[in-house]
Amino acid sequence: MTTPGSAISPGPATFTGAVTAPGPALELDDIQSGVLRPRPTPYAATYVVLRIDDRTAGRELMRRLSRVVASAAHPESPARDTWVGASLSFQGLKALGVPQASLDTFPPEFQQGMAARARFLGDLDENAPERWEAPLGSPDVHLVLTAISPDTASLAAAFERARAAYRELSGVTAIWRQDCHNPPDEREAFGFKDGISHPAIEGSGVPGTNPHERPLKPGEFVLGYPDEMAEAPMVPQPEVLGRNGSYVVFRKLHQRVAAFRQYLKDSASTPEMEELIAAKMMGRWRSGAPLARCPVHDDPELGADRTRNNDFQFRGDDPIGYATPCGSHIRRLNPRDAEVAGVVRIHRMIRRGTSYGPLLPAGVMDDDGVDRGLMFAFVGAHLGRQFEFVQGEWMNKGSFFGGGEARDPLSGAADGSGTFDIPKRPLRMRLQGLPRFVVTRGGEYCFLPSLRALRWLGELEG
Ligand code: HEM
Repeated sequence: MTTPGSAISPGPATFTGAVTAPGPALELDDIQSGVLRPRPTPYAATYVVLRIDDRTAGRELMRRLSRVVASAAHPESPARDTWVGASLSFQGLKALGVPQASLDTFPPEFQQGMAARARFLGDLDENAPERWEAPLGSPDVHLVLTAISPDTASLAAAFERARAAYRELSGVTAIWRQDCHNPPDEREAFGFKDGISHPAIEGSGVPGTNPHERPLKPGEFVLGYPDEMAEAPMVPQPEVLGRNGSYVVFRKLHQRVAAFRQYLKDSASTPEMEELIAAKMMGRWRSGAPLARCPVHDDPELGADRTRNNDFQFRGDDPIGYATPCGSHIRRLNPRDAEVAGVVRIHRMIRRGTSYGPLLPAGVMDDDGVDRGLMFAFVGAHLGRQFEFVQGEWMNKGSFFGGGEARDPLSGAADGSGTFDIPKRPLRMRLQGLPRFVVTRGGEYCFLPSLRALRWLGELEG
């Protein structure tokens, strides 16, 4: 895969303007809440996959869901943090009887579905679709309903609204469910604070978190608006179906927490050293404090401070990666202004990850066989140049920053032979034999229709 977009101006290296700069008016009342609104903190979430066996029932469900799914409008509403979202796979659009001429206007990656893209995503060997949790990766995954809320009581109420929409419809069946919950201190299973860095989007009213990042054109995340490459990017047709829609990538990622702990212990001579190596792999201390701002010691106060914990760049202060290694998780997945091949702005993404499974109790070094990890969710308007590019080129290779074949030390598709370089003066440190800490359990590419499109899908005939 090549790096597209050389014609784009990367813009000023440092942006210090308002992070909510105005742009073309986004039709917020037609866009699903989950596209633009950050997930609440703390959170509880449920994902339900449905199969549509009968298109008439499926269309009725679309009509009902158009009244249940929340829009991105009314940010001042107290209920804005609780919402239900609905997204359809390509097979789901087919099951609803969307005309072939319209299906053909969707991008090829979406038409093929995640399992068919395994080679580009590093979903081989242990990660291969044949080993995924059923029915993930199968043509039965049609519709994904997501309910998210700050607490389990409001979640139950929101989810009940979604369930009422499909419960008595024969011809539509719930076939998979995953519940997620907020781990203590917003820490994901490896123990790092998550949900910190988000891009700003022109015209969305949702602030970004890095004051140096110029807000991205809305078409990077919502279909039908100018993006960083074109004034009028292609939109699935007819317009009523594509406009104000987006794509979401769901991936259930199992985390091998005991293996991660053991690897740290084996690589370090002291507990302090273990923490430093973990921070070097992530690019942040477990508290969320960025190495870019505190390279030697953790600073939990900084980690918790939303106004400061994402306020940094790499190029000026740390071009070599002495503080934040170029191969660390956050630097490779968002190199910001660092010198890399390609244009970072066309590979940005919104993340809506939520953790599942109980935490492995502190100090336990042996695998307890319990499934825990992250329901990773990407939102963006370009599956190919955003999600697939980042996963394939930045996570599972290192050539874009001069790191050869070195993969992401935490979430890369490791095979036990990988290395991770920690630049240091006078000598660098190289971690060897990186095991696989994250295993793909399944996922799918889905289209997040606008509310108008949900109604249009409900009115299909034939
Ligand atoms: C189990 C797997 C994963 C874990 C445990 C994980 C964890 C984290 C954590 C703790 C952060 C730092 C906090 C934050 O900025 O929110 C982060 C940042 C990030 N992750 Fe992941 N992640 C995982 C998988 C992925 C995947 C599959 C992708 C994309 C293909 C991804 C993309 C990103 C990006 C873009 C950032 C923000 C970087 C920045 O702007 O500084 N992550 N991740």
